[in-house]
Order: sequence, then structure tokens, then C-alpha cells
Amino acid sequence: MMEYQAQADCLSGKTILITGAGAGIGKTLALQCAEFGATVILLGKTVKKLEAVYDQIEALGKQQASILPLDLNGATEQHYIDLADTIKREYGKLDGLVHNASQLGVLGPFTQIEKKTWDEIIQTNVTAQFLLTKSLIPVLSLAEHASTIFTTSAVGNQGRAYWGAYSVSKFATEGMMQVLADEYENSSLRFNAINPGATRTAMRASAYPAEDTAKLKRPEDIMSIYLYLLNDDSKEVTGQRINAQ
Ligand SMILES: NC(=O)c1ccc[n+]([C@@H]2O[C@H](COP(=O)([O-])OP(=O)(O)OC[C@H]3O[C@@H](n4cnc5c(N)ncnc54)[C@H](OP(=O)(O)O)[C@@H]3O)[C@@H](O)[C@H]2O)c1
Repeated sequence: MMEYQAQADCLSGKTILITGAGAGIGKTLALQCAEFGATVILLGKTVKKLEAVYDQIEALGKQQASILPLDLNGATEQHYIDLADTIKREYGKLDGLVHNASQLGVLGPFTQIEKKTWDEIIQTNVTAQFLLTKSLIPVLSLAEHASTIFTTSAVGNQGRAYWGAYSVSKFATEGMMQVLADEYENSSLRFNAINPGATRTAMRASAYPAEDTAKLKRPEDIMSIYLYLLNDDSKEVTGQRINAQ
């Protein structure tokens, strides 16, 4: 587990967009970012879940969050262009972008992957990240230092039987991070990937339904690497794949 103690208010003045902010790791990260002073943009599919996180941030007495309902599986390029325009207009810049939302799909033999499932996983886990990053780079460039975090997995740099489209999508995620880090070397933009490791969430439970969840780390236990990569202490760090555990 990374030992890093974030300074109180280390994210103050920063605006951070988190995808999949309504549940699991993304929800905990949204609350942590607000706790450390950021204005958080909550992007996700289920509005009710986003509203619950919004209310929790309100109850903390922190910077008011905003809600961006978007189904990454159905969004068109125009949705991302409009979203970037809105963020630029409302906030003037974006300091952090966390690609957290993903779909696991169905685990099973490669030859039994349905084309529809394949398309959905690649759309949500790869194409949506491409379009969101592409539309937001001009807005990220308006910040003094901007951090983009991708979320990978243990199966994102070592393929594993039965993890099919999800594993392939995480390889693509790591590739996208490396391409961007290289392209924007010596700029104010940095791009890194975090592998959360086994974490107690709904996605983990659907991959390993029989496991004893009490033995797993909670999202709260893996936050320090996210806070490190989002604040200026990491402004020289780019192109890295970092294990949260
Ligand atoms: N948990 C682990 O052990 C583990 C290990 C390695 C990597 N990861 C990675 O960590 C990240 C977070 O995972 P998690 O375990 O926190 O997952 P989770 O509990 O399943 O949460 C995923 C979040 O993504 C959102 N999402 C899914 N599909 C979406 C779509 N089409 N459009 C918009 N939002 C969508 C979900 O929204 P709704 O709830 O509204 O559907 C949810 O808020 C993922 O990238 C995952 O691959 C997790």
C-alpha cells in the first residue's frame, strides 16, 4: 500500500471530473477529492447514485459538486464536445480527469464472447475514454498542471483466461495512457494509470461471487495514490502504471 499523506486542502482550487462517481471506487474518490478541497464533477450512468454522492458532499460542507449524467456506452462524440464546452464555460479549466468507470462484461471462454458484449465493453472502457480525453485536452490545457488518471487492472498488462474483452480493454487503456504521456511530455499535462488491485466493490463481487469480501481492501484503503496523482506533488510524474496495493 502506498504511504502518502496528502496535505489538507491539497486539491483546493482544483476542478476534477470523475467517471463512474456514483458507486465503488469512483464514489469514494469523489468524496475524498471534495474532502481535500476540490470541486468535483460527478459523471455516471445512474442519476440517483450521483445525487446521493452530491448530497454527501453537500453534507460535508465542502465545495458544491456538479452532476453530469452520461451513459458512456451510448454517448456520441457530440456529447463529449458539449460536455467539454460546458466545463470550460462553468469552471474555466479542468485540473483533473479520472477515467474510473468500466464494465466487466461476462467472464468466460473467448469463443463464447458475444459480439454485442465485446462492442459494449470496448465502447465503455476504451472508446469513451478516447472521446472524453480528446474533448477535454483543450480544457485540461488551461490548468497550470493537469492530471489524467486511467484505471487499469492486473489483467491490463498480463492477459488471463476467461477475462476476454475486459482484459483487452485494459491493455488498450494502458496503451492510451502511454501514447498520451509520450505525446504530452514536457507539457503541463500528465497521464498515468492506477491498478486498484482487489477492492471491495460490486464489480469485484460479480467477478468473484464466492470470495470472502472481508479480506478485501475497501475503496477507502487505496485512496492515497489517487490523491498523490491528483495534486501538484506529482506534477513531474507521467507515463506510469502504479499499483494501489
Ligand atoms: N474493484 C476491483 O477489485 C478492481 C480491480 C481492478 C480494477 N478495477 C477498476 O476500477 C474501476 C472502478 O471499479 P469498481 O470496482 O469501483 O466498479 P463498480 O463498483 O462496478 O463501479 C463502476 C462505476 O462505473 C459506472 N459505469 C459503468 N458503466 C458505465 C457507463 N456505461 N456509463 C457511465 N458510467 C458507467 C457505474 O455506474 P452505475 O452504477 O450507474 O452503473 C459505477 O459507478 C474500474 O475501471 C475497474 O475496472 C477494479
